Amino acid sequence: MSTQPKKNAKVTINTLREMKEGNDKIACLTAYDVSFAQLLDDAGADIVLVGDSLGMVIQGLDSTIPVTMDEMIYHGQVVSRGLKRALLILDMPFMSDASTQQAVENAGRFMKECGANMVKLEGGADQKELVETLTRLGIPVCAHLGLQPQRVHKLGGYKVQGRDAVAAEKMLNDARVLEQAGADLLLLECVPAELANKVTEQSGIPVIGIGAGNQTDGQILVLYDILGISAGRIPKFSKNYMQQANSIQQAVELYIEEVKSEKFPDNEHTFN
Ligand code: KIV
Repeated sequence: MSTQPKKNAKVTINTLREMKEGNDKIACLTAYDVSFAQLLDDAGADIVLVGDSLGMVIQGLDSTIPVTMDEMIYHGQVVSRGLKRALLILDMPFMSDASTQQAVENAGRFMKECGANMVKLEGGADQKELVETLTRLGIPVCAHLGLQPQRVHKLGGYKVQGRDAVAAEKMLNDARVLEQAGADLLLLECVPAELANKVTEQSGIPVIGIGAGNQTDGQILVLYDILGISAGRIPKFSKNYMQQANSIQQAVELYIEEVKSEKFPDNEHTFN
């Protein structure tokens, strides 16, 4: 029997776990306003992320670092109004988790002021205690591993992560630690497909990927990249669905269908 969420049933962390167990792919996209949120929800996206990528695609910045909590709250509130079924994740912006107390207050604001269903945090095993605290407080966490754009200066640029054996072992360990700490979802960004596959296999919680091959439990892309309207170069791992569609609605539906049928990502959109 398919574990795909029923047409109008709200997607929860239990739905995501059932989808992983049933090998039903989880289709996710970012959104930053109510009109797109409604369109994604109607098209059947399982997760909508208000990403701090809004710094780049909405605000025209060259990184996500300047994005503030108040800006995230504003976009979180407007996106939340457009969703009936999709699970809503809000991204903790740079420095919003600088201390446990700040992180708890800020994650609490996302839950109380925006109706978030989950918060997303960049970082590895170093976030263990924070994930434990948020879990104890009833705040679901998506842990973001691999390329972490908020740490771009420490990483020395936007690069594929986990290429050598030491880095790969560290990522596998980070994933284990974060799951044990209570994370409900892992997100892998720019990770070689073989490593992403290993993380997915060892994890009891769902793993979604962006530039992480097609063996993860689901995929996420930046909405404006799939519509071909992001300023600048579209990343290798993304795909412009407007080239095959007559409308935005159709492009989004096509992306979701290709994720569900494992047509996306193909080799061209994968790091090996
Ligand atoms: O900010 C964002 O949109 C993200 C996605 C790229 C996963 O973190």
